Amino acid sequence: MEKDPFVYAHEREDKIVWMSQNTNQIETSPEIMEAMKEALENKKFNLYPHRDGVLGLKDILLDDLNLKDGFDALITNGAIEATYTLTRALLSEGDNVIASDPSFMPIHHQIKLSGSTPKEIDVYKEPYRMTVEEVNEEVDKDTKMILLIDPLNPLGSSYTKEDVKGICEIAEDNDLLVIDDITYRDFAYEHTLASEFVPERTMFVYSFSKNLGFAGMRLGGLIMPVGYSEILHKYRTNVLSANVIAQVGAKKALETKKEWLPGMLEQSRKNQSIIKKAVEDIPDVFLPVYPSNTNMFVIDIEKTGLDPQKIQEKLLYEHDIFVRGGNYLSNIAGDKFVRISFTVPEERARKFAEKFPEVLDEMR
Ligand SMILES: Cc1ncc(COP(=O)(O)O)c(C=O)c1O
Repeated sequence: MEKDPFVYAHEREDKIVWMSQNTNQIETSPEIMEAMKEALENKKFNLYPHRDGVLGLKDILLDDLNLKDGFDALITNGAIEATYTLTRALLSEGDNVIASDPSFMPIHHQIKLSGSTPKEIDVYKEPYRMTVEEVNEEVDKDTKMILLIDPLNPLGSSYTKEDVKGICEIAEDNDLLVIDDITYRDFAYEHTLASEFVPERTMFVYSFSKNLGFAGMRLGGLIMPVGYSEILHKYRTNVLSANVIAQVGAKKALETKKEWLPGMLEQSRKNQSIIKKAVEDIPDVFLPVYPSNTNMFVIDIEKTGLDPQKIQEKLLYEHDIFVRGGNYLSNIAGDKFVRISFTVPEERARKFAEKFPEVLDEMR
């Protein structure tokens, strides 16, 4: 039987250079760990959290996004519960949602579970994000939402203020909701929230997995205009809230963000440039988007004629480096790229930079 790469990687967890899931293993702040250890010692897990989450977390999350009035937040089991809740509560059979390809495809699956269709715009071409014109062309009488993943997994592109404004105007003109998935916002050089233009139509999807490195804690948020909070709460997969210890850590992290975020970003961007230097010397290979506004980018290998899946396997099984072949992220361009995330300790980014050119050389 064929090996499952995830089982293989988890069996060798500490040896693996994890560049496959956009997780974050760069140090943030010891204070976050201290807060969680204290919560653990005081057995904060004996009680269910309040329906709104650990007290104070929701407010600090809204403050972090500068959303003063008119918004409410649910603390969810990862951003993935937020998108599930949104799609289940607000979509019906026959609706459609404007989205991109490549994209974070699990959300497209959730759209389909609600009997709706993702209308995918090909963004594997300049400018590597949806344009306002393309979004406008796709809208029809059954369109209910625009899925704006900004910055975009897997490409690392992000939308300019003009783009966001244009997309929001389309939402306004056609009575649509904007799902603003801001999972990677903290990595962006610049970022515009859709609420700047259509606050009453914007649903934010938030994750603590990437900025804080909390992927295994399963914590996220759904932020919405106040009128929507009751109905969305009912559609949660877990109305009893989310992991308390994780929430304590997240609260401390947001309170101390100014102290740890710049250092984490600096390391992430340094790793990104180390990898770029290694990649730009390889014939027939290029980076569609650089610099990335996330903690990942894709490396286009189409001209090499190599299969991304085979590159993934060789890097994993021979070098303990786990990257992701494009087919997980794209129906149309999955055979053209591999995705690499670089929020790993620097020596691990350097290992990738050394081995990737060698592996491609051997495979040609
Ligand atoms: C765009 C996007 N949204 C949502 C998620 C899910 O994040 P979480 O770990 O918070 O469930 C991911 C995870 O990779 C993602 O890339």
